Order: sequence, then C-alpha cells, then structure tokens
Amino acid sequence: MRKFLCAALGACAAASLMVHSAAAETKVGLLLPTSGNYAALGKEIDDGFVMALEEAGMAGDFTLVREDSEAKPPVGMAKARKLVLQDNVDAVVGIVSSAVLGAVRDFIDGSKVPLIVANAGNDEATGANCSKYIVRVSFSNAQVNRPMGTWMAEHGVKKVYAMAPDYAAGHQMIDAFTASFTAAGGEVIGADYTPFGKTQDFGPYLTKAKAASPDAVFVFYAGGEAISFVKQYDSFGLKADIPLYGSGFLTSPLYVKAEGPAAIGVTTSLHYVPTLDTPENQAFVAAFKAKFDRPPSEYAVQGYDSARVLIEAVKAGAKGREAIAEALSKVSYTGPRGPLTIDPATNNVVQNIYVYETVADGDALTQKIVGTINEVRDAPNGCVLK
Ligand code: BEZ
Repeated sequence: MRKFLCAALGACAAASLMVHSAAAETKVGLLLPTSGNYAALGKEIDDGFVMALEEAGMAGDFTLVREDSEAKPPVGMAKARKLVLQDNVDAVVGIVSSAVLGAVRDFIDGSKVPLIVANAGNDEATGANCSKYIVRVSFSNAQVNRPMGTWMAEHGVKKVYAMAPDYAAGHQMIDAFTASFTAAGGEVIGADYTPFGKTQDFGPYLTKAKAASPDAVFVFYAGGEAISFVKQYDSFGLKADIPLYGSGFLTSPLYVKAEGPAAIGVTTSLHYVPTLDTPENQAFVAAFKAKFDRPPSEYAVQGYDSARVLIEAVKAGAKGREAIAEALSKVSYTGPRGPLTIDPATNNVVQNIYVYETVADGDALTQKIVGTINEVRDAPNGCVLK
C-alpha cells in the first residue's frame, strides 16, 4: 500500500531524504562521567543512547562527540564549553551529577544550546533556575523522593534517620523526602551528610543512626557509594533490626549484583525498574539483554529516552539549536518506563514513580513492584520558561 501511494504521489523518497539529511547534520555532545564514582552510570547511559539510535536505524545520522565530565563541576564546565564553542554541537546530552548540572546551567542557557539531561536530578534546573534550553528526561530529585515520604508514612513508618552524600543531590533528595514524610505525620529524627566520593567507612554514621533508634533508615546513595553503603548496613548489623529504605538508585539493577544478599528486603522508589510488566518494557528489556547480556537499569532507560526524544525532534523537522530546543519539549510517548511527557511549565519529565523491593529470584536479585504513583509532576517552584 505504501509502495503504491509512493509511486502515485512521488513523495515518499523525497520525504525520507529530508528526514535523513536533517538528521545527518545533527552533532551531539555526550557529556558523561567515564571516570570517578559515577563512571558506570555514564557508560550505562551511553549504551542506552546508542541502542536507541541503532534501533531507529539512525546511528549513522548523528555525529557523537564524547567528553568525560568526571562528575566534577569545574571539569564538566570546561567540557561543556569545549563541546559548545569548539565542537559546535547542535545539542548536549548527559550530565549525571546535580552539582555539574548546577555549574553548567547559566552557560547552557546563555549559549542557547539545547541540553537533554539524562540523569542529574538538580531540582533548580527545572525549578527556579529552569531554562527553555534545558529539557530533562530522567527525573528531578524531588520527584523520585517526594512520593516515598508519603508512601512510608502510609505504611506505618513513624521515625526515620536519613543519610546521603554531602552535595546538591543528597540534600535535595533528603529535603523532598522529609517534606512529604513530615506532612504525612512522620518525623525525621536525625540526618547525616557524608563526604561525597570520599567515604569508605560508613561505620561511625551507622553507629549514630542505630543509637537514635529509628523505625527505619532512609538514604540516597548511587554508584560505588551505594554498593559500599548497602553492604556495610548489613555487615554492621543494622539490617536485621532497622529496615532500610531509599531512593531507588541505592539498589539499581546496574550494581545490585555487587551488593548481593545485603540488598534483599531493601525498599526504594524510582521511575523505572526492569520488571515492569508492559509490552513496551518487555520489548526493551529483551533487546537490551540481547545486546549487552544484562538487564537494563534506570540509567540505561534515561540514555535510551534521551536519544528517543532527540530522534522525535529531528524527525519532526527540527534542525539547529533553537528548533531542536523548541521541539524537544513537545515530545511524548509511552516507552519502557510507562507514559513519558515533558511538562510545558518546567521542561521536566512527567512520569510514574514505582516503589519496589529488592527480592531474591533463585541465585539472582530482582525488583518486586509494591506501589505505583501515577504521573508524578513537580510544581513549577518558581520556573518561568522564556
Ligand atoms: C545526581 O547527582 O543528581 C544523581 C547522581 C546519581 C544518581 C542520581 C542522581
């Protein structure tokens, strides 16, 4: 039928050529950590990004320039400048650390280059410091943790001790959790912020947490720190008495295997888990496993969806920085994580949040979904997009 219509109208070849040539001119700067505490997260985002381009048959249509942010603000800033001013990219994709996102925000906004945030949850980037050039397809720190405060209070938890690394993401995640937990009747009876990327021994903090006698401990840790924390929480004997909760990066499928049995029974919240039972996710998980021989994590989906929104924008005819920025915020579809839309008020993703428990599945570990909070959207929090 399509062939017939093409012959009759003589339009299809021209149309597909147009899509091809628009895409061929799209140069993308991938700004991710490939060294440091968050290096594995950067690699996973990159894998998901490339997979989506290949799946769409468009891998050859984008030129990728990769730079290592090291998850350090000054390095991220220098590399962002290089990508935008020297490589002249049409869009930047990536950024894992909230601190790096905070550092590059003004430069991105002033350069009028679209940035697709593929991880960093810094609330301000889609709140008081939002920009029409910054579109986030990952999550905001508040979005992942706010629902969990309510959920835990509703499930009988009354007194919590909180812990997180001492940088923007750690503070914002605990603040969001504390606000909703307190509003629902809970109490945060103590909190510690550990030196980011430097804390190897959580013992002194765990001793303090135990002495406070909370009903539960709630934390944000990711990457190598998540592995150390979960293992030490078990080996220092807290897990047996005080249930551990957190944002879902704590027990990400990317590194839960390294945490081993210590992760069993930990309950966390996140915008994606590979056990989601939908046709879109089953197809995604099968394709990812076939390509990489491991289940995808939230970071993989964030890379995948970063590429998908970019592909959709380019397919819609967007060419050049201004047009791509404009088109990105209009993309919406149902993908592996469920429905995904970009909030026109903030440019932050609107998505479901899943509460999941890490459980044993034979010798392996898997994610059992125990709650779903639909279409979670942040308040504008002072964001005015112009
Ligand atoms: C952040 O810095 O925003 C972040 C880093 C790792 C996982 C989640 C959030």
